[in-house]
Amino acid sequence: MCGIVGYKGKRKVKDVLISGLETLEYRGYDSSGIAVLEKNKIRVIKSVGKIEDLKKKLKMYYLDNATCGISHTRWATHGEVSVENSHPHKVGRVCLVHNGIVENYKDIEKELSGKYSFKSQTDSERICALIDSLYNGENEIEAITKAIEILKGSYALAIMFDNKDKIYGVKKDAPLVLGIGDKEFFLASDISAILSYTKEHIILEDNEIVEIGNKFDIYFKEVIIYKKVSLASWNIEEAQKGGYEHFMLKEIEEQEELAKKLYSKYIENDNFSDIVINLSKYNRVDFVGCGSAYNASLIGKYFADKYCVKSDFYVNAYVASEYRYMNHCYDPKVLVVLLSQSGETADTLACLRMCNEEGVDTLAIVNTVSSTMAHEAKYVMPMLAGPEICVATTKGYFSQSYLCSLLILKYMYSTRIINKEERDKIFEEFKKLSKYIKNIIKETNYKEVAKALYKSEDVYFIGRGVDIYSCYEASLKLKETSYIHSECFPAGELKHGPIALISKNTPLVAFLTEFSVREKTISNIMEAKSRGAKIIVIRKESITIDKTICDYEIVIPLTSEYIQNLLAIVCFQLISYEVAKLRKCDIDKPRNLAKSVTVE
Ligand code: F6R
Repeated sequence: MCGIVGYKGKRKVKDVLISGLETLEYRGYDSSGIAVLEKNKIRVIKSVGKIEDLKKKLKMYYLDNATCGISHTRWATHGEVSVENSHPHKVGRVCLVHNGIVENYKDIEKELSGKYSFKSQTDSERICALIDSLYNGENEIEAITKAIEILKGSYALAIMFDNKDKIYGVKKDAPLVLGIGDKEFFLASDISAILSYTKEHIILEDNEIVEIGNKFDIYFKEVIIYKKVSLASWNIEEAQKGGYEHFMLKEIEEQEELAKKLYSKYIENDNFSDIVINLSKYNRVDFVGCGSAYNASLIGKYFADKYCVKSDFYVNAYVASEYRYMNHCYDPKVLVVLLSQSGETADTLACLRMCNEEGVDTLAIVNTVSSTMAHEAKYVMPMLAGPEICVATTKGYFSQSYLCSLLILKYMYSTRIINKEERDKIFEEFKKLSKYIKNIIKETNYKEVAKALYKSEDVYFIGRGVDIYSCYEASLKLKETSYIHSECFPAGELKHGPIALISKNTPLVAFLTEFSVREKTISNIMEAKSRGAKIIVIRKESITIDKTICDYEIVIPLTSEYIQNLLAIVCFQLISYEVAKLRKCDIDKPRNLAKSVTVE
């Protein structure tokens, strides 16, 4: 939450900061601002709204002589959305941008109250005052080191000082990357912000301070340390729209390629690759995630419940914000699997740290391999989805549920629940997944279904078996991208209460890919239809449904059950996209949301 970009080098500082902020806008878009050093003076310009608003404002300023700068895009936590609360903050000789939450900012304010008056309600302005109060006018590293000894909570900070042609960065529990170009240096919350300039980077660890002038030095406790430079594997094209109207559509379509990438990394030479952790050495597996990541983990749990019926093996799925406050009984036979696209989500990260403290084995399924979770987990399975810019996840969820299923399948194979022949048959379908996706994207008219939904105030989803879990994700996708209220129920639950919500033309979306329980779900559809519901069915080719009870239908090919949920969700991602478009919503940046939820 909140994005930071800093730059020191030969280019026009303003342009680098703005292009970086545009890439990081997914992290928050309540307000934004920049600070640059011009003729040894720090100039701060900020604006409420999106980066576009800041760009308009910046047209009035000639900042071409700036030599370095810092910038920020905000997702409000402390204080309303206003110019005063926007970053950068400047107090005394210090100017900074902050991502994270400092918990003891009230104590700091109290301590400094005689000396400073504050314009904003933010914790960030108090950090700024703290550093200024500790600064002797000469030793910036000392001032920052002393300040971080006092701060409690999370922070990634980019800092400037009056009369200093340098920028500084420091972080704790929030990401900060140092980009290294040819006589130019960058700071960013996420590598994607600087990929168009350089791929060389260093991921800063907690409480390391980087000082950037004509060269850079990294300090820990005021002593210079040396760190290895890494090379990013992501391409800048992956982080750009590439002719698409929205990132969401681009990212949905990228799932075709992603299916190939996942297959070649995880199903090597038609066998499970070694990086798919073998769960058979554990008695209990806890999947943990937030939002869509949690929904994906339910897919893994579902297959484990259905097929891994053994008295010494249990798979659970938990929402991270609950799991972290539960009491757990861990032993060496427990594995905790943390799912996170960003690898930075506060609650999931807190669970990982709790597990590490307890000494329990952890596996992170993450997309951002430079993320904190990827660093701190014992095992990592990369999601391989490339940069996901649209705030609503699509390819991220796809990859997470794919990998959850694969983990369970490997367990099933290694414990002989399935034999080689059965495994190979399933692999055949995984191999074809990319082709299936291509066909369902190109051949189906999602716009028709979207037209039937976009004027509705409420949409309900039903399914049985794995379909319930696809419904969870479909419902979330619809509500976050188009702001339509939606809920989902196991189909059998409809008549135990929710059917009271059905009246004439209430849309009911039924996922119908579970063959064994198809007749039951069809009966539930009929019950809703006879009360006037508008029925939309996403069905597997082999499950037929009478045209008189189905107003719209999307058909997915007949395939393995481990694939059908992935295809069904791609269909509904496309429907959600079209609905959001018809409702003229800000598809890639839905209101009130941010991509990387680094607050509790
Ligand atoms: C929904 C969505 C969120 C995220 C959740 C977890 O479309 O994007 O629900 O899935 O915030 O984020 P990560 O996976 O980064 O931990």
